[in-house]
Amino acid sequence: MSATLPRTAPKERSGQAARHGNYIDGEWVPAASGKTFENRNPADRNDLVGVFADSGPEDVEKAVAAAREAFKRWRAVPAPKRGEILYRAAEIMVRRKEEFSRDMTREMGKVLAETRGDVQECIDMTYYMAGEGRRQFGQTTPSELANKFQMSVRMPVGVAGLITPWNFPMAIPSWKMTPALILGNTVVVKPATDTPLSVVNLINALQEAGLPRGVVNMVTGGGTAVGAPLMNHEHVGIVSFTGSTTVGRIVSEACAPKFKHCHLEMGGKNIIMVMDDAKLDLAVDGAVWGGFGTTGQRCTAASRVAVHKAVYKEFMDRFVERTKSLKVGNGLADDVQMGPCVNESQRATVEKYVGIAKSEGAKLMTGGNRLASGDHERGFFHEPTIFGDCSAQMRIAQEEVFGPVVSVIPVGSLEEAIEVGNSVEYGLSASIYTQDINKAFTAMREMYTGIFYVNAPTIGAETHLPFGGTKNTGNGHREASVAALDVFSEWKSIYIDYSGHLQRAQIDTGE
Ligand code: UN1
Repeated sequence: MSATLPRTAPKERSGQAARHGNYIDGEWVPAASGKTFENRNPADRNDLVGVFADSGPEDVEKAVAAAREAFKRWRAVPAPKRGEILYRAAEIMVRRKEEFSRDMTREMGKVLAETRGDVQECIDMTYYMAGEGRRQFGQTTPSELANKFQMSVRMPVGVAGLITPWNFPMAIPSWKMTPALILGNTVVVKPATDTPLSVVNLINALQEAGLPRGVVNMVTGGGTAVGAPLMNHEHVGIVSFTGSTTVGRIVSEACAPKFKHCHLEMGGKNIIMVMDDAKLDLAVDGAVWGGFGTTGQRCTAASRVAVHKAVYKEFMDRFVERTKSLKVGNGLADDVQMGPCVNESQRATVEKYVGIAKSEGAKLMTGGNRLASGDHERGFFHEPTIFGDCSAQMRIAQEEVFGPVVSVIPVGSLEEAIEVGNSVEYGLSASIYTQDINKAFTAMREMYTGIFYVNAPTIGAETHLPFGGTKNTGNGHREASVAALDVFSEWKSIYIDYSGHLQRAQIDTGE
């Protein structure tokens, strides 16, 4: 079937910019309205990365119809065969890793080392789920009755509507797409408007690997015009969303009346706890990477650091010194360590929070300004920023900024650090730096977060463990790992009675 499909997205060159359509039923097609939007490099607004379909409900309708039709066939393909296609897609991504990474840096801004990591995470996830084609274990258990057999098997849900973010433009779509596909679901994905090219690249790999038409469909465009009709569509059986808690609540409320399956991965206000016995160089390395990696634009970013008062000054001096030395610029340059904010509105949010922190009395230790001259003139750059002497209840220490701003909070003990750590509305990731195994295990038990690290920052989750968080970070589900299979499948328990007569469970048990 795949042999008849176009191998790549059609690209019409106008200057440097390629034009990309929606991907519906195996064809690259323009939006029904013919409208388009531009995707520009956040490090250099003059660099037009591509022109994409500015779609609406009509395009969503077509994509869902294609996915619904394809579901009839795809669910019948043996799971190991589905796995082989994923395996081939992963191989293609290995081959094209550098190209995809460069595209991603150009559209999203994070530095090349990180976009290579993002593509690698997508590759890891795809290999992992390819393997699930030969597992997808159910259970067999003995029956309480004679001559009766029983087992459980996973069933696909149907059409999965995936709404994906811009900060991990390939990794997160793969967290959703690959478990959906290996289980026999079909997909309509709406990429973030800032990063559609990376999803185009992922789809091209799947297409080249032989994914049949209609199994994955992509509709680009805004949240109201595309995301809303997708999540509200009666033939979409499961919605998986990664983004802000505010939008997640809207998705949750849209799904609730129809009892539609809904998986949400939302905000974070993660903490690194530095104890008085910590190896300070290691903790500083972790705070710099956790706070300013991806320009702080990770759900898992270490936007808070609680430091024991006994080492506070020393830690702060080193943290500030290291942060001041970070080179901010275009992520395609080898020596750049931190890229821009993804867009103007994200930078405006950063600036708003810098203002809030100052007015709350937090002490600005370094940064605090946009970078807008010289090499930075055409991008959305902002200095890596540290606030010291924060109290745990300040807004800067409570609310998600999603940018290069870290609040440092002095604490007097492990117990206080844990209390501060748990005092926010989110529960994604936390970490402790200590040489004391008792402290490490206590924090491991007490932190109410979905992810916890010892002597490592709050970022760096791998694909084969569950990813997600508690409280306002999520709604009880996890992605990646076998946990993702639960999101995209329904259990069916099957009983086979071969006794030849009526046996009543709980009643005819022979007592
Ligand atoms: C996110 O922050 O949105 O653990 C995802 C990490 C990455 C994934 C982050 N592997 O930081």
